[in-house]
Amino acid sequence: MTLSDNAAQIEYWNGKVGETWVRMQDRMDHALGPVTAALLSLAAPQAGEQVLDVGCGSGETTLALAVAIGDDGAAVGLDVSEPLLARARERADALLLDIDFIAGDAAVFSDDSGYDLIVSRFGVMFFADPVAAFANLFRLAVPGARLCFACWQMPADNLWATLPMTVLADLLPAQPAADPHAPGPFAFADAERVATILTDAGWQDVIAHALPFAMVTGSGDDPVADAVQFSLRIGPAARAVKEAGPQVEVAARQRLAEALAGYRDGDHVALPAAVWLFTARA
Ligand SMILES: C[S@@+](CC[C@H](N)C(=O)[O-])C[C@H]1O[C@@H](n2cnc3c(N)ncnc32)[C@H](O)[C@@H]1O
Repeated sequence: MTLSDNAAQIEYWNGKVGETWVRMQDRMDHALGPVTAALLSLAAPQAGEQVLDVGCGSGETTLALAVAIGDDGAAVGLDVSEPLLARARERADALLLDIDFIAGDAAVFSDDSGYDLIVSRFGVMFFADPVAAFANLFRLAVPGARLCFACWQMPADNLWATLPMTVLADLLPAQPAADPHAPGPFAFADAERVATILTDAGWQDVIAHALPFAMVTGSGDDPVADAVQFSLRIGPAARAVKEAGPQVEVAARQRLAEALAGYRDGDHVALPAAVWLFTARA
């Protein structure tokens, strides 16, 4: 893999976080189902197209794209995380889908396929230099190609991420104020900034489509306990609780259960979430 200034993120996604995402794959794909559906509908993959899925992770969107473009098309899943790529390859094999899952940094990846469509579900917010990375994606696209990706809106509009931090605030050490544009899940929350990044990188006809949705983080026999598990594995609170140690984790479980019970709706727990679906053309 060619290294760029994304080395810190590459290490991050190849460490514990990558393994957690593998273990959480089913649950994340369930929770993000509404995003996947809306993203694929906007991307509108066509039979025979060359498609690139950036930051494909364990491959949920790549698998769907491969089915949509059929045997005459070619789907490539690109990611820096070896554990997630291994999971994606396993899933494609099980479905007898011919997909190339490549280990590579999207900021510097090159091939001469000429992509008609570049898609990403939450895989493009981790670049140290987003303009350079999107300029690289532009070089991979044929003239007129479509770009279509999902990224999170502001933390305040994503209670699934902020509620755990809020209810656990007094149990955890004060969190340092983070740079809102630093690589991470919320780096693309400011739609105007993202539009400028895309335009500076050469993309045109940039549109940000707002998608609010209910993110199901708990289901099954005990949806509240399930949602607590989710909050302790994925999102900003998960790492903070882990670092704080086992005693804090016991108290955190109790607190989270009380708070998340308020979001139970029958057999599931769903929290407000909001994403941007960006579309653009090369
Ligand atoms: C939030 S996960 C999303 C994974 C997958 N698209 C999904 O929706 O389940 C972000 C993904 O982006 C990948 N990623 C981060 N930086 C990357 C880079 N520079 N090039 C390619 N992939 C990258 C990570 O390894 C990770 O799989």
